[in-house]
Amino acid sequence: MSAKLDAFLRESQALPTPFVVVDVDVVEERYHRLVEAIPSARVFYAVKANPAPQILERLVAVGSAFDVASPAEIDMVLAAGADPSSISYGNTIKKRRDVAYAASCGVTRYTVDAEAELEKVAAMAPGASVCVRLRHECGGADWPLSRKFGCAAPEVSRLLALCADAGMEHGVSFHVGSQQRDLGAWDEALEVVAGAFERAIQLGARPSFVNLGGGFPGSYREQSPSIADYGTAVRTAMRRWFPEGIAEVMVEPGRYLVADAGVLRSEVVLVSRRSVEDQERWVYLDCGKFHGLAETMDEAIRYRLRTPHDGGPTGPVAIAGPTCDSADVLYEKSAYELPLDLAEGDMVDLLAAGAYTTTYSSIGFNGFPPLAEHYV
Ligand SMILES: Cc1ncc(COP(=O)(O)O)c(C=O)c1O
Repeated sequence: MSAKLDAFLRESQALPTPFVVVDVDVVEERYHRLVEAIPSARVFYAVKANPAPQILERLVAVGSAFDVASPAEIDMVLAAGADPSSISYGNTIKKRRDVAYAASCGVTRYTVDAEAELEKVAAMAPGASVCVRLRHECGGADWPLSRKFGCAAPEVSRLLALCADAGMEHGVSFHVGSQQRDLGAWDEALEVVAGAFERAIQLGARPSFVNLGGGFPGSYREQSPSIADYGTAVRTAMRRWFPEGIAEVMVEPGRYLVADAGVLRSEVVLVSRRSVEDQERWVYLDCGKFHGLAETMDEAIRYRLRTPHDGGPTGPVAIAGPTCDSADVLYEKSAYELPLDLAEGDMVDLLAAGAYTTTYSSIGFNGFPPLAEHYV
């Protein structure tokens, strides 16, 4: 945790919980580290990870481009001072009128994974650059993204050829899955992209870019390789499958840029045992699934926890949120242990919680206010 976050938390004991606090300098530092790891790639920050104006403004200042999912994200990025030419509309599922709105703002890059979506883009954003998303099985990722997005390689080739016929610039994107801990994932995907390019070229296409997606990690309970290792893996895979290079390479990091920049502070509401014989305690926090911790679904993202009693003896716990809903359980099967001294009123910090938390928070489920945000 950065010294600034630590100081904020020390000095904010009276601040109502739950809240997330983000150190914007860490976001900038992560941006530079990623650029150093993959120097050939232009960074398009995935705004959905955390769209706070403070983050967007800082990333505009350092020269980042942006991946957006909706008109609202376009507005936020433009309000932060970005040029529309630095925006890529990466959601493959767009209303026709939203494509028209994006085009009216000057956005020229759109992602599709179906002919019907390509037709919308061609009609509402003529002359746009089209990115065709390849479906990728996300083995090795803690938060897979393969279920809903992307098309098979032969369809990628066909759509690229259709783009060429329509006179639209074209390339391919994939996402190896978020919090991807297998460094081989990019090599696997790029082999398929290279094959799809070859077939597309035979069909008359001239693909000019590859978008390597996101997947770079936050620092959660299970360790992941360093960003330098990710860089080496990606650069090696690019050389292997595109030895002659490609005009443009893009990356779309979300989690890596903002996860470690944030901490979520919560308070212990209750520590109990469900029966007197139980070894396991239930720890109920004032923050749960409905306060931004949606990625604990299926216990997929396992946050590191910090308590005032760290270093003392620990015992097994299940951890849950405060709402009257049994979906509001964070961890029951992931073998979490917390200090035996942990008690009502203690603060529990969830580390590396700057990504995919603030905007996932409900607006008032059970009458609890949404997760508060602070930026330092
Ligand atoms: C299209 C797209 N690009 C980039 C990202 C960011 O991925 P990550 O947070 O793993 O870097 C996502 C995440 O859902 C996405 O949907």
